[in-house]
Amino acid sequence: RKPILLLRAGIALLVLPIHILALVGLWQPFCRRVFFPFFFNRFSASYERKAKGQKQELFRNLPDFRSGSGDLKLLEIGTGFGANFQFYPPGCKVTCTDVNPSFQQNLLRSMAKNQHISYERFLLAPGEDLHQVPSGSMDAVVCTLVLCSVHKQSSILKEALRVLRPGGAFYFLEHVAAERSSWKHFWQQVWYPTWKLLFDGCCLTKETWKALEEANFSELHLQHTTVALPWTPTQPHIIGYAVK
Ligand SMILES: C[S@@+](CC[C@H](N)C(=O)[O-])C[C@H]1O[C@@H](n2cnc3c(N)ncnc32)[C@H](O)[C@@H]1O
Repeated sequence: RKPILLLRAGIALLVLPIHILALVGLWQPFCRRVFFPFFFNRFSASYERKAKGQKQELFRNLPDFRSGSGDLKLLEIGTGFGANFQFYPPGCKVTCTDVNPSFQQNLLRSMAKNQHISYERFLLAPGEDLHQVPSGSMDAVVCTLVLCSVHKQSSILKEALRVLRPGGAFYFLEHVAAERSSWKHFWQQVWYPTWKLLFDGCCLTKETWKALEEANFSELHLQHTTVALPWTPTQPHIIGYAVK
C-alpha cells in the first residue's frame, strides 16, 4: 500500500498544475472539450490497428440479430468519433449517443468514410438515461471503451436491456482491472487517480465482467483477452456479447 501511495504522489507532482486546475474546476471542461478528444484521436489510431482483428471477429455475427423485417437497428453508446462504424454490416441503421459533442469533426469524417450504413439519430445523452429511445426498439447495442468511465455500470446495462428487443444483443469491448496479485494491477493502482483526471474519468481498475454477469441477460459470451498495447495500463480487456 505504501509504495503505491508514494508512487501516486510522485506522478501527481509531475502533473501538479493539472491537479490545481482541477481543484478550481477549470480542468474538467478543458479536458472534455479539448484535451481528451485530441488525445483519444491520436491514441485510437494505433489502438484500432491492434484491435481490428478482434473487432472484426466480435461483430461478425451482428447480421444474425436482424429483426424479422430484415432490418438491423443498432444503438451505440459513447460513439466517440465512430471507430466502430466500419464493422457494421451494410444497411445497418445506427443511432449514436454520447455525452461529449467534441468528437464531431472526426465523427463526420468517419461517417463520410462509412456510407454503407445509415445514420438515423444522434443523441447527446448519457447511456444511463436513454429515455428518447423507445423500449424494445433496438436489435443490437454496442458499447466499446465506455464502461471504464461511467459511475454506475449497472444503470447503463439496465438501459441497454430496456432498449433491446427480446433476443437482441449487447456487444462490448472494455479494458478492465488486471489480476489482483499482478504487477499490472499494482501499476493500475499507482496510475489510477492521475489517469482518471487526465482521461475524462477513465478508471483503470473496474471489474466490468462482474457488472455484466450481474445484469439480467439471458446469455453472456465473455472472453478475457488482451489488445496488444503492452506499454499502457489499459490492459487486460474483456470482449463479447450478451443476449437479452
Ligand atoms: C474512450 S471513448 C470510446 C469511444 C468509442 N466507443 C470507441 O470505441 O472508439 C469513450 C466515449 O464514451 C463517452 N462516454 C463517457 N461516459 C459516457 C456515458 N455515461 N454515456 C455515454 N457516453 C459516455 C465519451 O464521451 C467518449 O466518447
